[in-house]
Amino acid sequence: MNPELMEQGAERLRHAREAHQVRSASGPGYGRVVQPGQLDLTHGRILYLEDVNVSFDGFKAINHLSIDIAPGELRCIIGPNGAGKTTMMDIITGKTRPNSGTVFFGGTINLLRHSEAEIAQLGIGRKFQRPTVFEALSVYENLELAIQGSRSLRASVWGHLTGAQKDRLAEVLVLIRLADQLARKAGLLSHGQKQWLEIGMLLVQDPRLLLLDEPVAGMTDQETERTAELILTLKGQHSIIVVEHDMGFIDTIAEKVTVLAEGSVLAEGTLAQVQADERVIETYLGR
Ligand SMILES: Nc1ncnc2c1ncn2[C@@H]1O[C@H](COP(=O)(O)OP(=O)(O)OP(=O)(O)O)[C@@H](O)[C@H]1O
Ligand SMILES: [Mg+2]
Repeated sequence: MNPELMEQGAERLRHAREAHQVRSASGPGYGRVVQPGQLDLTHGRILYLEDVNVSFDGFKAINHLSIDIAPGELRCIIGPNGAGKTTMMDIITGKTRPNSGTVFFGGTINLLRHSEAEIAQLGIGRKFQRPTVFEALSVYENLELAIQGSRSLRASVWGHLTGAQKDRLAEVLVLIRLADQLARKAGLLSHGQKQWLEIGMLLVQDPRLLLLDEPVAGMTDQETERTAELILTLKGQHSIIVVEHDMGFIDTIAEKVTVLAEGSVLAEGTLAQVQADERVIETYLGR
């Protein structure tokens, strides 16, 4: 790992911890009033899904799914094709509504009562399987648009950023290794660089929870390695859920791994633990 990134990672972690301590000291707690829309982490969970079910034309894509994510956690989700990994992200982000079940962000925000746009505003950033950057715009303009949120393209591109926004943008450009490419049209970037730019577009919005769906698919080995470094740098500062099929990558970044199969949690533990699980082996070999 690049020492500069490590140092940045440690520095950001310190900031995040300090900020968290301040929040916990003055923020919501047992017996305190939580402001509407404020994230309540007093129960130690930033996200929980309980007994969630989704059917598509009678096919149960998500089947009694329950999952818990702790604040600052980096959770890896693996599982065969069609296991429901992307559908789970669709549910968290409000793209798909479950037929039944509970989905909470922190202790008090019922995500099933919010639209996709509201959920993004609440601090859940999502990267889709395919990169969706604006190819005709430069790297900088893409980040500029993202930091300004939902304002119109014209207003955003020609609008002015605040000092704090410029600082954040510069910081993210370094993190995603595109600081020397900021004037380049996004369409001219490599596949891996487009993926990093898209992650950068989420990071400038400072999400509390980051959902990454197959972030290293189609990347070269070197790009995959750099993406692992990036995710490890972000760890602790954002809660992160990573879905991937690349086991080498998972092995590099993983703490707790959840295996999804047929819409439910099949196993949970370290990568070595779940890989040694008979049912997990059967599920993968059975396909
Ligand atoms: N909108 C939809 N309409 C009908 N079926 C769907 C829809 N979305 C997903 N499915 C089905 O639900 C199941 C789960 O799909 P999902 O995309 O969540 O799997 P996944 O775990 O992300 O797989 P992969 O690893 O291939 O990305 C699949 O059988 C899929 O065909
Ligand atoms: Mg998927």
